[in-house]
Amino acid sequence: MKILVIGSGGREHAICWKFAQSPHTTELFCAPGNAGISQVATCLKANLNDLDSLAALAEQHRIDLTFVGPEAPLVAGIAEVFAKHNLRIVAPSPKAAQLEGSKIFSKEFMARHGIPTARFTICDSAEAALRAAQDYQFPIVVKADGLAAGKGVRLADSQQEFAETIKAMMVDRVFGDAGRRVLLEECLVGREASLMIFTDGRDYKIIAPAQDYKRANDNDEGLNTGGMGSFSLPGLLDEATIAECERHIIKPTLAGLLAEANPFCGVLYIGLMLTKDGAKVIEYNARFGDPETQSIMVRLDSDLIEICEAIIDKRIGEIDIKWSNDASVCIVAASGGYPGDFEKGKVITGLAEAQAVEGVTVFHAGTAFNDNAEFVTSGGRVLGVTARAATLQEARARAYEATRKIHFERIHYRKDIAV
Ligand code: AMP
Ligand code: GLY
Repeated sequence: MKILVIGSGGREHAICWKFAQSPHTTELFCAPGNAGISQVATCLKANLNDLDSLAALAEQHRIDLTFVGPEAPLVAGIAEVFAKHNLRIVAPSPKAAQLEGSKIFSKEFMARHGIPTARFTICDSAEAALRAAQDYQFPIVVKADGLAAGKGVRLADSQQEFAETIKAMMVDRVFGDAGRRVLLEECLVGREASLMIFTDGRDYKIIAPAQDYKRANDNDEGLNTGGMGSFSLPGLLDEATIAECERHIIKPTLAGLLAEANPFCGVLYIGLMLTKDGAKVIEYNARFGDPETQSIMVRLDSDLIEICEAIIDKRIGEIDIKWSNDASVCIVAASGGYPGDFEKGKVITGLAEAQAVEGVTVFHAGTAFNDNAEFVTSGGRVLGVTARAATLQEARARAYEATRKIHFERIHYRKDIAV
């Protein structure tokens, strides 16, 4: 089969890496991909905002199956565009992708269906937000309604920080239209975990849970990022917690969507906070998490193409998905300054040495080639150094050993992933 992966990050590299291992794959393409991905797939120039051109690309290369990594094309409606061309794709409809595309849509959906989540207020103006804040205790969670590349959430510790955040999002529009409306939420306390499912809308299979590290610096300090590392291992969530999530979150979510004639088909990500009052939903995403996917793909023993076909053909309940008993750890090496401003074009060395460490795979996110065919940095998150081993300690040791072999100017990574 000819496979096309859409996206260009570490998540897409991990997905391509997994597709490349399938005996069903005859040719693998990635649009647009990155320098690392070009070593396992043929990268195609693409504009992810132009869905018709993506469908044309799939037709031109006679693609049998397309898998979408990032949220923007999902929310923009790639599922419908591909369906019009009779192209097989793993992607939720744009309406179902609103679970991620609009945080307000997702909160109202949870409220309608009694799905446990943080108390919230929707604010249409800066004045309304300042008034609503009086009903909350600090820290107050402030979220831009629309897509903001994982950076649209701030925890305001004081009135001053709150007022500054509201001004930045709603008046200065640092996230553009995404900040036209904001959500205020009570701050939940507990351990976070990312629970994802493969679903065909009716039935589902749980994906091995992972944990992600959102803050830029050690000890969960600094700004929120797209994710600075992740790990996965058997038992990360105990059976009772998973059963609770199935009963109170997963089943009501799928049933609620079906009842609203809005079934979700694809990978549904549920960001959880495990509070003392039980598991609560922080957010939904309409796709695989990044960098959770890097940790998850190295533990997936089943064939990803067979899973994708089962999603599309609505028989996900019939297949058996196997996970390794190994643990995995992914360390994100980022450009100095990320998630703020950073420089690009820094030469990356030590990749082969890192890759040679036992159990290690280096997934590329923001990388490109320079004129000398060297790998250079081209984004905030540059690499996801991912290791698999029998224990979490061993996986962490391998991942850090490999990361220490990699150099580029102002490399930054957290030292406390999976500690
Ligand atoms: P989101 O983009 O909604 O996943 O939020 C990004 C991060 O902000 C989450 O992973 C949490 O660490 C944090 N966060 C979001 N909402 C809340 C909340 N209600 N209480 C505590 N932390 C939150
Ligand atoms: N790592 C969180 C996300 O992908 O949204």
